[in-house]
Amino acid sequence: MQVIAVGQSKGGFGKTTLAINVAGELVKLGRSVTLVDADPQGCAVQWAEPRKLGFSVRQELVGLRNVSLWIRNVLKTSGDIVIVDMPSGFGITFETAVLISDLVVIPCGPSSLDLNSAKKTILKARESTRVDPDMRLKVVLAPTRVDLETDEGQQISDALTDLGETVSPYLSYDVDYVRSFAAGKPVSTFAPGKPVDREVQALTSFLLRSIPS
Ligand SMILES: Nc1ncnc2c1ncn2[C@@H]1O[C@H](COP(=O)(O)OP(=O)(O)OP(=O)(O)O)[C@@H](O)[C@H]1O
Ligand SMILES: [Mg+2]
Repeated sequence: MQVIAVGQSKGGFGKTTLAINVAGELVKLGRSVTLVDADPQGCAVQWAEPRKLGFSVRQELVGLRNVSLWIRNVLKTSGDIVIVDMPSGFGITFETAVLISDLVVIPCGPSSLDLNSAKKTILKARESTRVDPDMRLKVVLAPTRVDLETDEGQQISDALTDLGETVSPYLSYDVDYVRSFAAGKPVSTFAPGKPVDREVQALTSFLLRSIPS
């Protein structure tokens, strides 16, 4: 079982959107997936509640008193892949999830403010894993809400590459992400064959290739 954590210091970049859509695509590829909603807002569990998604979504919150229990619960999850949807910001959830992850995905928007928060998130992730000198954490920056009509949108992948980490294919700014979320479905079933579906396919296969073996 492998763990992919999705996190970012700033909120609203599309962590949950990325997490649920990658989970949906992985299920389509035949993987067994669990989405762990580690955000007290509980957006992913609320989204998943009434529907049959093909993957389970459960809320597991990290607190000061249950760190080791949380780690045990996540690591004993059956199946191929656990995706952890983290709350924004740094704290016990970020530090704990990063420590047990095979891959950390940092969604990032195109403004200079967004790039700054991506930079901070990378530093924090590296700092959180410094306790174990043998650990080589794999970080992937995922450009999200990209508008290719703008200069910033066209330049985001290059700007992220300058941060020295792996950069994945982007997810564009597309209302189909909002609509599929409202419909309680991942884009793989809500909008098959549409641009959003193709973007999530490209991102998911990139992430699968990026997980250290
Ligand atoms: N690629 C996209 N195109 C258009 N809208 C998007 C995209 N990604 C996310 N959104 C919208 O942006 C808003 C925030 O997305 P989301 O909840 O996934 O972000 P988040 O990082 O998980 O937020 P939080 O920090 O509150 O957990 C939502 O309304 C979502 O539908
Ligand atoms: Mg979220």
